[in-house]
Amino acid sequence: MRMTSTLDTRNALSGPLATALAALLCCSLGMTGPATAEDQPALPKSLADYRFVNAFIVHDQENPLFGMHEFYVNRVGLDAFRHGGPYPEGSEFIGLVYGVEKGDGTMNEGDAQAITLMRKVADAEATGGWQFAMYGADGKAMDIDVVKDCFECHTQVEQRDYVFSQPLSVGELSTVPATETGDASR
Ligand code: HEC
Repeated sequence: MRMTSTLDTRNALSGPLATALAALLCCSLGMTGPATAEDQPALPKSLADYRFVNAFIVHDQENPLFGMHEFYVNRVGLDAFRHGGPYPEGSEFIGLVYGVEKGDGTMNEGDAQAITLMRKVADAEATGGWQFAMYGADGKAMDIDVVKDCFECHTQVEQRDYVFSQPLSVGELSTVPATETGDASR
């Protein structure tokens, strides 16, 4: 994936945020270089203990994030997710990424494409305390540059500890209800 500043999401990746991001890209980020597949953390064996967070559909094939992303959070990160961070060590988000199959006014999951991961660890200082990783649909780690391909875009939500997603509000049945004090309005 390549960094883009043109991604249009409900999280407003434009305006002052985009300007701040451009400044970051230009000058200040320490570079750690590409992560080889061997550096990447292992995927969990199952998502049985994870909660569904939300979906994110990028249907523009030209966009580097093209795909239907379905995000999950583990138990360690659940409470922080309700409050908009900060996240304790061991918090983890998983993204299952499918292609986008367009029907007659519909969109559905296409072929399995990739799995993305963010895991909070003590020594990931150059990437906001998060390990970023990406795996093929076969579960094999891919070579990515965690700073350029992932972290630089996530710096737009530094105030939420680099996590874009927020609890969705669908009443009693919300998969991850926000707390009253949580920064989860949208
Ligand atoms: C151009 C911007 C951009 C880039 C580059 C990017 N992401 Fe994200 N990422 C997002 C957005 C936007 C969301 C939240 C979508 C939503 O609201 O559902 C997200 C969500 C996530 C999540 C779920 C937690 C969260 O922040 O909501 C994970 C895990 C994730 N990304 C991993 C990665 C990894 C790994 C890479 C690099 C291979 C990467 N991302 C690159 C924009 C980006």
